[in-house]
Amino acid sequence: MCGIVGAVSERDVQGILLEGLRRLEYRGYDSAGMAVINGQHLVQRAREVGKVAALADAIEANPLAGHLGIAHTRWATHGEPSQVNAHPHMSGERLAIVHNGIIENYQELRDELRAEGFEFTSQTDTEVVAHLIEKYFREQGKLYEAVKAAIQRLRGAYALAVVHADEPDHLVVCREGSPLVVGVGIGENFIASDQLALLPVTDRFMFLEEGDIADIRKDNIRIHDRSGQPVERTITRFEHGADSADKGEYRHFMLKEIYEQPKVIKATMEGRITDSRVLEQALGTDAANLLDNVRHVQIIACGTSYHAGMVARYWIEELAGVPCSVEVASEFRYRKHVIQPDTLFLCISQSGETADTLAALRQAKQAGFRAALAICNVPGSSLVRESDLVIMTQAGPEIGVASTKAFTTQLTALLIFTLGLARHNGLSEEKEAGIVAAIHQLPKQVSDVLALDADIEEMSKAFMDKNHSLFLGRGSQFPVAMEGALKLKEISYIHAEAYPAGELKHGPLALVDSEMPVVTVAPNNDLVEKLKSNLEEVRARGGELFVFADKAADVKPEEGIHVMQLPSVHEITAPIVYTVPLQLLSYHVAVLKGTDVDQPRNLAKSVTVE
Ligand code: G6P
Repeated sequence: MCGIVGAVSERDVQGILLEGLRRLEYRGYDSAGMAVINGQHLVQRAREVGKVAALADAIEANPLAGHLGIAHTRWATHGEPSQVNAHPHMSGERLAIVHNGIIENYQELRDELRAEGFEFTSQTDTEVVAHLIEKYFREQGKLYEAVKAAIQRLRGAYALAVVHADEPDHLVVCREGSPLVVGVGIGENFIASDQLALLPVTDRFMFLEEGDIADIRKDNIRIHDRSGQPVERTITRFEHGADSADKGEYRHFMLKEIYEQPKVIKATMEGRITDSRVLEQALGTDAANLLDNVRHVQIIACGTSYHAGMVARYWIEELAGVPCSVEVASEFRYRKHVIQPDTLFLCISQSGETADTLAALRQAKQAGFRAALAICNVPGSSLVRESDLVIMTQAGPEIGVASTKAFTTQLTALLIFTLGLARHNGLSEEKEAGIVAAIHQLPKQVSDVLALDADIEEMSKAFMDKNHSLFLGRGSQFPVAMEGALKLKEISYIHAEAYPAGELKHGPLALVDSEMPVVTVAPNNDLVEKLKSNLEEVRARGGELFVFADKAADVKPEEGIHVMQLPSVHEITAPIVYTVPLQLLSYHVAVLKGTDVDQPRNLAKSVTVE
């Protein structure tokens, strides 16, 4: 989704802005642009459709030099991807603005401003904001006051960064519903929608809160909150090394992130479990109190995070004996729901900025859920700040649009949480110890699966020329099959559907033939015999099977049945281990097909608009 970078410095900012945009490329976008105030106090602007590289070429041909600038990657919402719709937008020749989010009342403002003589050159909602600020600037003569007045008129979600050639020594920024972070430098300061954009220039960040407006100068940062009070926002240091945003020896971020899983799963469990127990305090100082009377868990998430929630439902009901509902945020937020007493509201989000998930959380708080727990990967994100209890996954920055390490660390955190909850609901110490021991084995087991990479790469060749595929699982492996299908469709563009294997006869069997590879995850559990009967049904219709199975499950390879043996794993932790071969399979199919693995078409890493 759209990305923002801005800088005010002693040095020329063009290179800082370009590098910032490159680092935001992973979010998904379709055009890019930059505006700099030059030595003659004029706004110079460049905008290009396509990749940041195209913008870099345009700038190389016509350099933009100056000490103050803003830049943007746009993911089209209002108006097609085109040069005129790309940001920065201008009002006249002197004001430039970049915007993330959506202005809902833009049409009425557009009519009003047009009646006042402002001319529009794009179809975007952002241009309305540019003219609105310029209108107030003409009335009030100060950019800061003009931005303050303009945002009173806006409905919707936004992060804005504005510069004016009449005030060439500062940026004005604000946020409401879209993230914005200030990067603190020495004799220079920066802003961005994501701290990753600024890692080459600083590791110190201030996260703006909802309703904040800030004046950013090279040697001074002034922030006011929604009520107009001056406020200080804490400076935090970025904890992961700057090179977590580099691919290193790997060809793609996705592959690097798949390979990081043993390390980040370990980091996610560290400090939260002993040899045999979950450390409840590690879930938050108030955890014991909050978990004590939970009678229902409502999980809300989107995309891959939703699949993590679906796995957690099996755990929560089995181990804690607490009813659990799981729903995608975009559905939950638009329907009437019955709130059961003492419901814990649990949001799962890698980014902590997904618009639908945040909207659902805000609604839930108003509706009176017992407490809100967040499982999240980004410190300082909106979700983290707005929840009562937070369990941070320790995945480090995830750059590949297709989520991998975020998912397995979410599952690790969710399992630890489940054990904490289960203890309040009668789980025996012995059973807890057994599962904690299984959690300790995860890094090694995931490494063992990674060692099968070359075999999985070989297997991937069978998918290269296929248009459709089916993923089957039963029990807690059904959401694993869903996640496997999502990975394949996201990055290889092969249509992939997931089904609970028991549903085969109710429809999908009609599709099975030799052109429809069927992928199955088969750890050794109570359902494995039933699953094997389902595989027979597929085989009898000429379907080619690709089965990831526990040795003890005893699935025999034969004509049309390809079996890859996985290490023996505890039934409860199996969803985490069995996710990994499916990630590798999708990755290799996408590489063979030559798609853009890290930035698949039409998708964004962080969906901060509805
Ligand atoms: C986008 C990303 C997915 C992600 C989903 C939810 O669709 O491409 O990888 O799972 O958003 O994002 P979140 O940050 O809330 O987990």
